[in-house]
Amino acid sequence: MNISHLKKTIMKTKTSITICLGSACYRRGNQLVLETIKQYLNDNDLNDEVEFKGHLCESSCAKGPNFQINDKLFSGIDQNSVVEILDKHFK
Ligand code: FES
Repeated sequence: MNISHLKKTIMKTKTSITICLGSACYRRGNQLVLETIKQYLNDNDLNDEVEFKGHLCESSCAKGPNFQINDKLFSGIDQNSVVEILDKHFK
C-alpha cells in the first residue's frame, strides 16, 4: 500500500461531528453540549480521528438542539444524551 492510498483510507474513516451553533440551538443547550463534546474527544483521545466543526442555523430549530455524526442528525440533545450517542458511536 502506498502513502497516497493510505491517506485516502485514513481520511475515509475519519468521523465528522457537526454541531449547530445557530442562536436557537446554542441558547437551548448547544453551548454546553459543545463543551461536553470537546471534553469527550479529549478524554477519549479522539481528536485525530474526528473532524469537529460548527455550522449556523439550518432551519431545524424546532427540533433542536441539533448535532450530526457523519450524515446522521440527532435532535433534542443535551449534555447527557450526547455522551450516550458518542459512546454508541465510538465504543
Ligand atoms: S439554530 Fe440550530 S437549526 Fe436553527
